[in-house]
Amino acid sequence: MTDLTLLLDRRLMRARKDTMPRQRRLYELLRQAILDGRLLAGTALPASRVLAQDLGLARNSVIHAYEQLAAEGYVQTSRQGTIVAALPSRPKPPASSAQPEVPVGAMLSSRVQSFNRRRTPEQDLLPFMPGIPALDAFPVRTWRRLLQGVWSDPDPALLSYRPALGEPELRQAIATYVRTARGVVCEVEQVIVTGGTQDSLDLCAHALADPGQRVWIEHPGYGGARVAMQAAGLRVVPVPVDDQGLAPAGALWRRQPPRLIYTTPSHQYPLGSVLPLARRLALIEQARTAGAWILEDDYDSEFRHDGPPLAAMQGLVPQAPVIYLGTFSKSMFPALRLGFMVVPAALVDRLQGVLGDLVRRGQSAEQVALAAFINEGHFTQHLRKMRPLYAQRQAALREALARHWTWPGEVLGGACGLHLALTLPDDVPDVLAAEAALKKGLSPRPFSVYGMGGEPRNGLVIGYANTPAEQMDARVRQLVKAVNAGLAR
Ligand SMILES: Cc1ncc(COP(=O)(O)O)c(C=O)c1O
Repeated sequence: MTDLTLLLDRRLMRARKDTMPRQRRLYELLRQAILDGRLLAGTALPASRVLAQDLGLARNSVIHAYEQLAAEGYVQTSRQGTIVAALPSRPKPPASSAQPEVPVGAMLSSRVQSFNRRRTPEQDLLPFMPGIPALDAFPVRTWRRLLQGVWSDPDPALLSYRPALGEPELRQAIATYVRTARGVVCEVEQVIVTGGTQDSLDLCAHALADPGQRVWIEHPGYGGARVAMQAAGLRVVPVPVDDQGLAPAGALWRRQPPRLIYTTPSHQYPLGSVLPLARRLALIEQARTAGAWILEDDYDSEFRHDGPPLAAMQGLVPQAPVIYLGTFSKSMFPALRLGFMVVPAALVDRLQGVLGDLVRRGQSAEQVALAAFINEGHFTQHLRKMRPLYAQRQAALREALARHWTWPGEVLGGACGLHLALTLPDDVPDVLAAEAALKKGLSPRPFSVYGMGGEPRNGLVIGYANTPAEQMDARVRQLVKAVNAGLAR
């Protein structure tokens, strides 16, 4: 037996309980030995018959392993046999201190970054996670029927590459909906279907700005927007939010003029303020003068609890420099991954050219089914059912907070949407409170994760939409207990 067969034999034997087939295991072991230099270039591997005998394997298994190694360039075969090939020297792994910086999120403290990194999809299902609609209230049967309808006899064209701007019937349905429900002024050509707002933000960051240009983002604000903009190489300028929403100081327009302005005017995320008309008009006017595009993220205003929804900024003045961003993540369900942009007519041609190359839009069946869901009235009906449900859940949360919350603080927002914001005193750090809550299976988010580099704010964002009203009291009591336990540690 050669050294090689001894090594392989032991390791193959050890792997007896392994589910990996022997032939694959042999290939992996040889490949690893070549890569880490235990088998040097020029070494002749044993003949397949000999190795098979030594290891008690079928000869074919050895031949297949050798063939795979030869196909990938680790060995060369000739009449002389199977010889280990000379590989170019492998780059050394960097010392841990030399890891390149990841620019996205660099403005968050390391504790907040670490809290963010530990987020899992399971946490999204816990009580108090913001932004999750009532998943059990979605009309699954209707949705399934519509999807089955699309798949029962699909036009083969539906399986091909589809229009980058979205399925025509969905674009039409969205145009009709946003015109009537959101006061958006548009033709169907201006509607672009996307894979949700995150995708819309990504496309805007790449298509409407050059790396190095500035984007203003509300502070505190939506982390998804920050990450999309930073990933496209844009410079994030935090713009403070007051109790009426985005509040840029006059000098900021001169000192740090933006190319893009990201804002949530109908329901500031996460603090919940509503941008008044005068500020909306001023923002549009100043953006026009500065040559900036406003990204109006209208993520949850279908659920207005104190009157009819406010009209979108987009339709306030003719040809406003506004890109309206809508999503079906809250009004339908997040895993659908469909949203849309309504872009100014002047941008349609330019974006069409870029998106044609940049985007391979899929989900054609879901898009067609969604168009039917809207056109047949199910969408409006679903929203009509969800509004009172969410209002009831919010009221239950407010009552429970009033009964059990022991720290001084203010409840912010709630005019619409799926969450409330709760300020915390300085001696109750929000990340500590959120970590303590998580340990008890609750998932409010700390204000700190919405920081954009401006003055830190301290508080919790509490989602209520996916928690039944009758559970709210018990959940808030658990939260209070968890935070107390976190503080005592
Ligand atoms: C402010 C804001 N915008 C948009 C979205 C929705 O993003 P998407 O459509 O990518 O799911 C969310 C979701 O949480 C959000 O909080």
